Amino acid sequence: MCGIVGYIGTRKAQDVLVNSLKRLEYRGYDSAGIATLDDENNPHLARSVGKIVELEHVLEPKPHTGHLGIGHTRWATHGGVTVNNAHPHNAGNVFLVHNGIIENYKELKAELKAYDFKSDTDTEVLAALIDSFYKDGTPLKDAVASALKKVRGTYGIAVFSPLEPGQIIVARLGSPLIIGLGDGEVIIASDASALLGYTREAIYLNDGELAVCTNKGAEVFNLNLKHINHTAETIEGDVDQIQKGGYDHFLLKEIMEQATTLHNTLSGRIDPKNGTMHLGGPNLTAKEIADIRHVVIVGCGTAYYAGLLASYYMEQLVPDLTTEVVIASEYRYRSFHLPKNSVALIVSQSGETADTLACLREIKKRGVKTLGIVNVVGSTIAREVDGGTYVHAGPEISVASTKAFTAQVVTMLMFAGMLAESHGGNPQLIHEFTNELAILPEEIEKTLKTHQETMHELAKKYAGFNDALYLGRDTAYPIALEGALKLKEVSYVHAEGYASGELKHGPIALVDETFFEVFNILDNWLFDKSIGGLHEVRARGGKAIVLTDSQREIDADDVIRINSPIKHLAPILLNTLQQLFAYYVAVEKGNDVDQPRNLAKSVTVE
Ligand code: AGP
Repeated sequence: MCGIVGYIGTRKAQDVLVNSLKRLEYRGYDSAGIATLDDENNPHLARSVGKIVELEHVLEPKPHTGHLGIGHTRWATHGGVTVNNAHPHNAGNVFLVHNGIIENYKELKAELKAYDFKSDTDTEVLAALIDSFYKDGTPLKDAVASALKKVRGTYGIAVFSPLEPGQIIVARLGSPLIIGLGDGEVIIASDASALLGYTREAIYLNDGELAVCTNKGAEVFNLNLKHINHTAETIEGDVDQIQKGGYDHFLLKEIMEQATTLHNTLSGRIDPKNGTMHLGGPNLTAKEIADIRHVVIVGCGTAYYAGLLASYYMEQLVPDLTTEVVIASEYRYRSFHLPKNSVALIVSQSGETADTLACLREIKKRGVKTLGIVNVVGSTIAREVDGGTYVHAGPEISVASTKAFTAQVVTMLMFAGMLAESHGGNPQLIHEFTNELAILPEEIEKTLKTHQETMHELAKKYAGFNDALYLGRDTAYPIALEGALKLKEVSYVHAEGYASGELKHGPIALVDETFFEVFNILDNWLFDKSIGGLHEVRARGGKAIVLTDSQREIDADDVIRINSPIKHLAPILLNTLQQLFAYYVAVEKGNDVDQPRNLAKSVTVE
C-alpha cells in the first residue's frame, strides 16, 4: 500500500525520491508526489494521479533542484484519487507524507478551524495539527510529538519545514519506517527495498518512536522526547533482486526463479542422509517442542492457503497434533480460545499485513507462543513474534504472491518435520518428505521449463472465458484455492476454488460450456474419486483442464502431466503450472500484470 521516502544529503533529492518511489511501485498505489526544499529553503511540491511516470511529466518542465525532500505513493483510503488528495500535504509551514489511518481525524479537523483544508484526507488534518503546535519557536520535533499524542490510529510519517531546513522528522506507530544511514546522507523509506543501492545500514524505528534525521544521521526519541539508543542493522538483499533480470514482468521472474529461492529456504535446514529437518529460528527447547499439541496457523490470502496446505502435511507427519488454519481478518474478532500447549504460526510474506498483525497481538494476549513464517526481514510481524523463521524467498515485487507461497509451505513443512521427530512420527515418512524436499528445487525447475510454453498456449486458448472453477482433493484442495486466487488477481477472470467433493453440493449448478474447470488431480488413493468429479463436469458441457502427476489415462479437454519422482509434494509442482497459466492469461488480456487493479502488495489497513 502507500509508500514513504525521504532524502537529505548531497545528491539531487528529486532523483533519489523518484527512484525510490519507483522501487515502491510494486506495493500498489494510485497517485504520487514529492516535496523538496531548494538551496534557498523555498519549498516545492509536485503531485500527480496515476503512475510515477505521470509525476515525472509534472516535474519535467520545472525540476526540483534541492537536496532535501519527502515523497509518497498513495493508495486511497480517505477521499478519492485526485491530485489534491495525493501526498505530500502542506499546512502552514509543515510538509508531510503519511502511511496509515488517523481514526479521529474528523474530531481533530473540527478543532482546527484556522485551516482551509484543500483535500478530503486524514493526512492533511495531521499536517495542520502539527502546524498548530509549531508556533513561537517550538522545534518541529516537539510539535510533531505533541500532535502525535493527540492522534488515534496508525502512522508512519516524514515531515519537514522550511523554517528548520536540514532536517526531516519521522515517526511510526503501526506502519513501518526505516532510516538508511549513508555517507553524509540519510535515505528514509517505509520499505527496505527503496534503500538498496544507497546504503546497507539502517535503523528500524519501533512503534511510538520519533527520529530527527539530518545528513549526519538520526537521533531517536520517544513521544516524551526522551532519547533512545538504537543500533543500526544491516539490510539484506541487493539491487539485482529487485530488478526484472531480463523478464517482461516481475511475476514471471518470480515464478521462474523459484528453484533458486527454494535453495535459500532449504539451506542448512534439511539432512537428506539422515532424513531429518531442522529450523533454528523458532527458539524452542526440546521439551517445548515435545509438549506442543495444537498448532494454529494464521494468514490472509495466499499465506492462508500456504498454511492450509502445510496443515495437511502436519497432520500426516505429526501423530498427536491438532492443526487449525484461520483467516486473520476473521480470527482477530472471534472469541477464540487456544488450548494449553498451543503454538501459533503467523504467516506473512510482507510481515506487515494489518489483519495478521492484529491476530498476532490477540494471540499473544492469550499467552500463546507465536512463531513467524515471514519473508521480509525486519518487518513488524518478524519483530513482534516470540520466535520464528524467515522463509528466505527474497524480495517479492509482483503483487501476486508466487515464490513466497512455495517458500512458506516448505518452511512450515520443515517445522512439521521437526515436530514429527520429537512426537514419534513415522521415521520412514519423515525421510520420504526430507528426500522430496531435497530434490524439490530441481523438480520445480524442470516442471517450469518443460511446461512454460504449454501453459502459454493453454492460456491463449482459455483467455476468452469469463468464469472458472478450480478443483482439488486432499492436498490438491489448497492449491485449487490458490490457483483460483492467482487467476482472478492478475487476469480479472472470475474464478472460484472448491474441494472437488463439494461440486455436487452447489457449484455444479454453474457448469455449462461457458465455464472452464481446472482439476488438480493427484495420483493417489483418491484418484478415482477425482476422476468422478471430472466426468460430472464433462457430462454438463464444462471444459476441463487437468493438471496431474498421474500417467494414467484421463479424458479431458487438456491434460498437462508432470513427470516427477515427487509424490507428497506434487501439489507444489502443480501449483507452479497454475502460476504460469494465470500469468499468461493476464498477458493475453493486456493487464497490468505486476500491479493488478485495486490491489496492494502489502495490506497495511483493514
Ligand atoms: C497474494 O497473491 C495476494 N496478493 C494476497 O492474498 C496476499 O497473499 C495477502 O494479502 C497476504 O499478504 P502477506 O503474505 O504479505 O501477509
